[in-house]
Amino acid sequence: MGYLAGKNIAVTGAGNGIGRAIALACADEGANVVVADYGVSMEGSNPSSKVADAVVAEIEMAGGTAVAVAGDVSDMEVGQYIVDTAVDAWGTIDGVVCVAGIVRERMLFNMTEEEFDHVVGVHLKGHFTLFKAASAVMRKQKSGGSLVGFTSGAFVASTAQANYSAAKGGIVSLTRSAAFALRKYGINANCIAPAAMTRMSENVPFEIEAGGPEAIAPLAVWLMSDSARGVTAQIYTCTGKRIAVWNQPVELRHMWADDGVAFSVDEIAEKLPTTIGDEEMPMFADLDRRMKEMAENKNAAEGEASAS
Ligand SMILES: NC(=O)c1ccc[n+]([C@@H]2O[C@H](COP(=O)([O-])OP(=O)(O)OC[C@H]3O[C@@H](n4cnc5c(N)ncnc54)[C@H](O)[C@@H]3O)[C@@H](O)[C@H]2O)c1
Repeated sequence: MGYLAGKNIAVTGAGNGIGRAIALACADEGANVVVADYGVSMEGSNPSSKVADAVVAEIEMAGGTAVAVAGDVSDMEVGQYIVDTAVDAWGTIDGVVCVAGIVRERMLFNMTEEEFDHVVGVHLKGHFTLFKAASAVMRKQKSGGSLVGFTSGAFVASTAQANYSAAKGGIVSLTRSAAFALRKYGINANCIAPAAMTRMSENVPFEIEAGGPEAIAPLAVWLMSDSARGVTAQIYTCTGKRIAVWNQPVELRHMWADDGVAFSVDEIAEKLPTTIGDEEMPMFADLDRRMKEMAENKNAAEGEASAS
């Protein structure tokens, strides 16, 4: 018996990379799987139903059960359809893993409205469409359930992906809100911030700690399983060989206005720097390291080009 025996699970973005690895692992652990993928390029263009069909064929070849859905997860009707497909085929939906994603890189000052909306739509709204449809059914099933979102370390900040970073931050808050709202129904909601070698990560211009996409699947499988019941509102980094848990945001220090009502600008200017101060930003040290690495890689590439 596998970890997911008897469960019915939908995985979005299941046609490639991490989503495909999770769909295969879920089937291997005994789940029936809805393989949902729009079959698009990394930038979200040229949809095709072939990739979802191919993963379903792989699962069936290995003796598992799966159904393909090729649609855009940012569409409410598609989110509902993915959930309905599991319920119609097998009677319940027990888990949803939202892995679908695209990238449209651009510096903030050059980013178009379309580039922002498209990325936020696929990632953030693509979680809402599935979380909403699945939680409505899970609540009535009265047997709990598990929602797993995919964020990124880039939710902290990203130089040329403000759209992606904002969407990934939104996914963290959406997941925590789902955990809050659904706890009394026994429905867990957690996020994975993965790092894996896929088409999406292959052009990252600095070194990342990452293994193959299949190295992310065990954590997603466990979060879907009964063994992880009660684990909720957590954000886990997973690079394959390393799993880390993120802190839960809290206020660190506070100060009170002299009159007990409101601060004046003068009072803030006088007291804030010495009373509560501001926080160190490790992300800037990381940014400096990446910029240095990118400059070294560029110099090395130019050196090679001029030598040949
Ligand atoms: N690879 C990494 O190192 C890394 C790092 C951080 C976060 N992530 C996140 O992990 C997830 C998977 O990334 P990956 O590297 O496997 O990417 P990938 O490009 O290999 O796969 C993404 C899949 O999502 C599908 N997709 C895109 N838009 C869709 C839509 N509108 N509807 C349905 N399906 C759609 C694509 O067709 C593709 O099959 C993404 O959310 C990504 O942001 C990946």
